[in-house]
Amino acid sequence: MSNSPLGSSAKLVKSYVDLANTLFIQNDIEGAIKNFEKALNVREGITEIQRAKLLFNVGVMHQKQGDRPQAVDYYQQALAADPTLALAQLELQRLDYADTIKLKGYEFTQDWFSRNLLIWREYLPEFVGRADLQVLEIGSWEGRSACWLLEQVLTHPTATITCIDTFQGSLENQSLNPEDLHALEARFDANMAKTGAAHQVKKLVGNSAEILRSLPLNHYDLIYVDGSHIACDVLTDTILSWGLLKLNGIMIFDDYDFGFKEYGTRQGIDAFLNNFAKKIEIVHQSHQVLIRKQMA
Ligand SMILES: C[S@@+](CC[C@H](N)C(=O)[O-])C[C@H]1O[C@@H](n2cnc3c(N)ncnc32)[C@H](O)[C@@H]1O
Repeated sequence: MSNSPLGSSAKLVKSYVDLANTLFIQNDIEGAIKNFEKALNVREGITEIQRAKLLFNVGVMHQKQGDRPQAVDYYQQALAADPTLALAQLELQRLDYADTIKLKGYEFTQDWFSRNLLIWREYLPEFVGRADLQVLEIGSWEGRSACWLLEQVLTHPTATITCIDTFQGSLENQSLNPEDLHALEARFDANMAKTGAAHQVKKLVGNSAEILRSLPLNHYDLIYVDGSHIACDVLTDTILSWGLLKLNGIMIFDDYDFGFKEYGTRQGIDAFLNNFAKKIEIVHQSHQVLIRKQMA
């Protein structure tokens, strides 16, 4: 097999791709592009699925170079080769999202949100434009996720979002620029003002474990748990939020695959998922977990 023309073509493709990846690691983007292109030119050596991934990689390289039109062109070619390639769909959505951020003049220092765009666009349409929609967010930081929700989901003027945050940052944020941390709440306020829908935002400053106990039961349609990532805190936030969530409401957990294993974010979420298994439907499970409350 390895001596067949197809086998040798596949080997050639692999050697170009390996070289491209090495050059990319060495920050030689031009060299990486050239070698991905060479791999693409070995037509009989690759499937359409592989071709899509290579086209996507070239798009990423152009994006790294700041050449947006070329990046978009390659992402679109990748999707033409494999319409299910989620990475290309996501990058196109992220580019559009970045345009909106610029246009609105939002001030963000971090982006922990845009990787979730595909998931939120897929699962949240049922809430879009709903009158009296009640959303609760635990952990808002400078308001990235809240801004998106206000623009894309809380589009009915009677919809409201309650944002809980200490505005002191989480444990894992303490190594960030102290000035950015110090101005966190001011940035949140400024960003909310820029949505033009600040009157739909109820800001509650303090520890979620205390504030959640003061909120109304069976009141929220959508709850986003993205505060502390320490297992016992996540579990506390979740248990306290459970009673606040309406029947058929959705709860979203962030960082199910959180890198800092010592915090145990996943264990906190799993403890809830395991013990409430009969009362919930798991709607989605990857970096984020989405559950629907099926039973009180
Ligand atoms: C990952 S950030 C939230 C990111 C935000 N949802 C976004 O998409 O940009 C986590 C936030 O939770 C807040 N936080 C951490 N522990 C908290 C606690 N116990 N109570 C309230 N807020 C907390 C931090 O101050 C931080 O702003």
